[in-house]
Amino acid sequence: QWTVASIVEDQVAAIRAQVGDGRAICGLSGGVDSAVAAALVQRAIGDRLTCVFVDHGLLRAGERTQVERDFVAATGVKLVTVDARERFLKALAGVTDPEEKRKIIGREFIRVFEQAARDLKTEGGVDFLVQGTLYPDVVESGGGSGTANIKSHHNVGGLPDDLAFELVEPLRSLFKDEVRRVGLELGLPETIVHRQPFPGPGLGIRIIGEVTAHNLEILRAADSIVREELTSAGLDRDIWQCPVVLLADVRSVGVQGDGRTYGHPVVLRPVSSEDAMTADWTRLPYDVLERVSTRITNEVPEVNRVVLDVTSKPPGTIEWE
Ligand code: XMP
Repeated sequence: QWTVASIVEDQVAAIRAQVGDGRAICGLSGGVDSAVAAALVQRAIGDRLTCVFVDHGLLRAGERTQVERDFVAATGVKLVTVDARERFLKALAGVTDPEEKRKIIGREFIRVFEQAARDLKTEGGVDFLVQGTLYPDVVESGGGSGTANIKSHHNVGGLPDDLAFELVEPLRSLFKDEVRRVGLELGLPETIVHRQPFPGPGLGIRIIGEVTAHNLEILRAADSIVREELTSAGLDRDIWQCPVVLLADVRSVGVQGDGRTYGHPVVLRPVSSEDAMTADWTRLPYDVLERVSTRITNEVPEVNRVVLDVTSKPPGTIEWE
């Protein structure tokens, strides 16, 4: 008979036994798994853990603050943020192909993380790398079929030999709901513990067209309105996730005041799902859709049309790219 408190106690003891008086680093993505893994390890070894957060500029509004302020406040973790926004924009300039975007983002991410890890290693002899691997990840990577082949996902792996770390994976035996309970037990904020899934390549794969600073700004503004309205309607727990997609390559004619506009559409993609392998489109209440649409077209000047994706998965995937 396990309790959440006993899981925490056992894992803290196991981490202490593994790491001894060594040092560890952990990459934070803003997601639940890396946050809970880091919080557990920090509980076990304190400031012998350093967390690294790469800001690739493809984050949603407020996500960097959530890590830098809220996560640090809740855990007291030692955090290094690497601001790599310019670097990613440069690498993505002119690229529109989805797979190419993913490869570039994955590659740049590894390089930036690798450099940060190398710096820390030479500074203080870090020998351990913390990863938020869950039980289903362990099982899945044994198989190797499924949607992983449809889109190249990225994770921090494949570091070069001279950067060899021993892995610390305190969530290896847990399912997602257990991880969330452990997170709450460790005092992490609800906003982190119940965060909906968000892809590693971030907003980069939600812009159909080129990822530019301007397109990111437009999408970030629209996305933050959608999240605000879904949260205030109390729908966060009913929806698996709701990607907002900017069709930067598409323009349509509109009218605003007495003027003609020629702006971009954004797509709402609310989905209900158990595990993201299959999904249904969520029947959002019309009044919520209305508020979202009115606010986006009023507050984001570049957007003159809001459309709803009513495709299940399959045949559509959840993300558009
Ligand atoms: P798709 O679009 O394949 O998405 O139906 C299934 C789930 O995976 C998320 N997703 C990703 N997560 N890196 C990630 O960490 C990625 O490259 C990536 N691509 C898709 C997506 O948000 C959904 O939850």
